[in-house]
Amino acid sequence: MPTIRTLIDAQAIAYRVKSLGAAISHAHRGHDLVLISVLKGSFVFAADLVRAIEIPIAVDFLACQSYGAGTETSGVVKITHDLTQPIEGKHVIVVEDIIDTGLTMSYLLSNLETRKPASLEVCALLHKPARSRVKVPIHYLGFTIEDVFVVGYGLDFAERYRNLPYIGVLEEER
Ligand code: IMP
Repeated sequence: MPTIRTLIDAQAIAYRVKSLGAAISHAHRGHDLVLISVLKGSFVFAADLVRAIEIPIAVDFLACQSYGAGTETSGVVKITHDLTQPIEGKHVIVVEDIIDTGLTMSYLLSNLETRKPASLEVCALLHKPARSRVKVPIHYLGFTIEDVFVVGYGLDFAERYRNLPYIGVLEEER
């Protein structure tokens, strides 16, 4: 059975999410703003983030599947659930759990760009720069982490651990 070592506790996450919400509220006052939560991993982060934003916003969801072996992304991404509303002329923030290789976000940004938003930004809870394969702009970032596989606060391993209120590292029990 694996054990889970806490990497970022619930209090640190809450504190950081509040400041991300404040930064977004400040930057987008007066804008027609849409937050796009990328499913499934960002659903917990997005739920907390929207409540830390003090300006009017719309929320939409995108689900995508990335093809690859095991936990490795191939960069071939398929949108399995698309937005319900057009984003043309709107200010858009894509909310993602983690930018790992960057391939998923890179694909999503080029796809969303074709829909002519007024602006397109990224808000990611976590970034693993050690594994970066393509450069992705991250306008709002929660935490930079080492090259470790993390779970909790929406992130899964084989669909488990999404409900943990903190972010932890899966470790084999000795
Ligand atoms: P990328 O295309 O390599 O940037 O992968 C992004 C997606 O891979 C994320 O949205 C996660 O769903 C998944 N992922 C990458 N690293 C981790 C991790 O450490 N834990 C859980 N999921 C991860």
